[in-house]
Amino acid sequence: MINIIGKRSFLLVSRYSQHVRKMSLVKNLAFVNNKWVAATSGKTFEVTNPANGSVLGQVPDMDTQDTEEAIQVAYDAFQSWEFTTAKERALHLRNWFNLLEENKEEIAKIMTAESGKPLAEAAGEVAYGNGFIEWYSEEARRIHGEVISSPIHSKEMMLIRKPIGVAALITPWNFPIAMITRKAGAALAAGCTCVVKPAEDTPLTALAIAALAEKAGIPKGVFNVVTCSRRNAADVGKLLCQSPLVAGLSFTGSTNIGKLLYEQCASTVKRLSLELGGNAPFIVFESADLDAAVKGTMACKFRNCGQTCVSANRLFIQESIFDQFVSKLEETMRGLKVGDGAQPGVTQGPLINDAQASKVNDLVQDAIKKGAKVHLGGKPALDKGPRFFEPTLLTDVDHSMRMYHEEIFGPVAVCIPFKTEEEVLAIANGTRSGLAGYFFSNDLPQVWRVAKRLETGMVGINEGIISTPEAAFGGIKESGIGREGSHYGIEEYSYIKYLCFGNL
Ligand code: SIN
Repeated sequence: MINIIGKRSFLLVSRYSQHVRKMSLVKNLAFVNNKWVAATSGKTFEVTNPANGSVLGQVPDMDTQDTEEAIQVAYDAFQSWEFTTAKERALHLRNWFNLLEENKEEIAKIMTAESGKPLAEAAGEVAYGNGFIEWYSEEARRIHGEVISSPIHSKEMMLIRKPIGVAALITPWNFPIAMITRKAGAALAAGCTCVVKPAEDTPLTALAIAALAEKAGIPKGVFNVVTCSRRNAADVGKLLCQSPLVAGLSFTGSTNIGKLLYEQCASTVKRLSLELGGNAPFIVFESADLDAAVKGTMACKFRNCGQTCVSANRLFIQESIFDQFVSKLEETMRGLKVGDGAQPGVTQGPLINDAQASKVNDLVQDAIKKGAKVHLGGKPALDKGPRFFEPTLLTDVDHSMRMYHEEIFGPVAVCIPFKTEEEVLAIANGTRSGLAGYFFSNDLPQVWRVAKRLETGMVGINEGIISTPEAAFGGIKESGIGREGSHYGIEEYSYIKYLCFGNL
């Protein structure tokens, strides 16, 4: 790799990794029962910087025995955490939020080092992620039940909300903080305890926020982080699904793994929340403000180098404005800067790992081989390193190509022309995915029609960025079950208990 990116730049980038390694929030042990622990086997795995391959640290490669212990401590802690008052839980979350905010720069630097996300974007994700803890510190006090108007004189009836118990949270590498806090904030507010299994590529951010949870005084066993390598991930995931001590599982990641976890959770009839892959349509109608549509495309498509579940997968542009839109998009994309996310001005970091880099390249080469036209990019940016990919703009993409159906998860914009609203809705809805959809139009009746008819859980209307703690995030069809964020997020971690008072 030194040959590819040059000795001087390798030394510079690995210096950044060295700087991160020394940060006080970088932990090399897992966090269980408010103790920093190694794997029972003593095994560890390496965490590396995807920008240059330099090693950031080693973390415990925990197995099912270690996870079993973490589940047990979370289960024991639940016996008392469940009975804390909503105000007590709110204060714990608020303390945690304050510390997360105080340490936001350090967390962002750790995230950039292990995920490759450019620093400015990492800072944005930390603000977004911390926002969930803030939001749920407020929502904790608004978890209410109902008093029912009784139909019988001698009875009174009430519905109260109870926490489900231990929540297992399996989180992805593309949002190393926000996908944890979005789940854990809601779970802790509801009165659940958690066992978090962060992605193998990004455990350091998870451990950094665990250190702050400890400092915030969150009681022992309430928030636990179990780290493990890809080798142990399948067994650890299966245990989290099948343990009778775990009441619910929340997973963000690929649809294939989501389906497997769904099956595995059946044996214990677990509460399940799944946020899976998307194939987001991004439609630009001829009445749209083209500059706003291009700006929305850039924000939606190139956020995290295209590695988001809500990223625009296919851009459908109405025929009459197609050429104009493509040329404006191409011009704007030329302003993207590829490189190590720790360097100033970089907007596109590396893809997370070798597998992801080769998947994106395979999809692009498949399309080119079958006739796609390359306006920009179209190949790995090998001068930057093996995991970088050139921002790519393709047209002449059709259903014979894999990227037409599969989630690209990379910096590749694909523009497809359409004639009518009917036609584009049929294509956009003709997929088993249904997470996010976007469209740009200034035709008011059309805005209502399309917003209602797009088969997705979320719709951005003249807007490319829709995520916020206040809104309900989630999909339909094979993109998932349940909602995260907003007050609905708490419902995933609580159940309604009916109390009937008789002989009154
Ligand atoms: C995801 O890609 O899984 C989450 C994106 C977001 O929260 O905006």
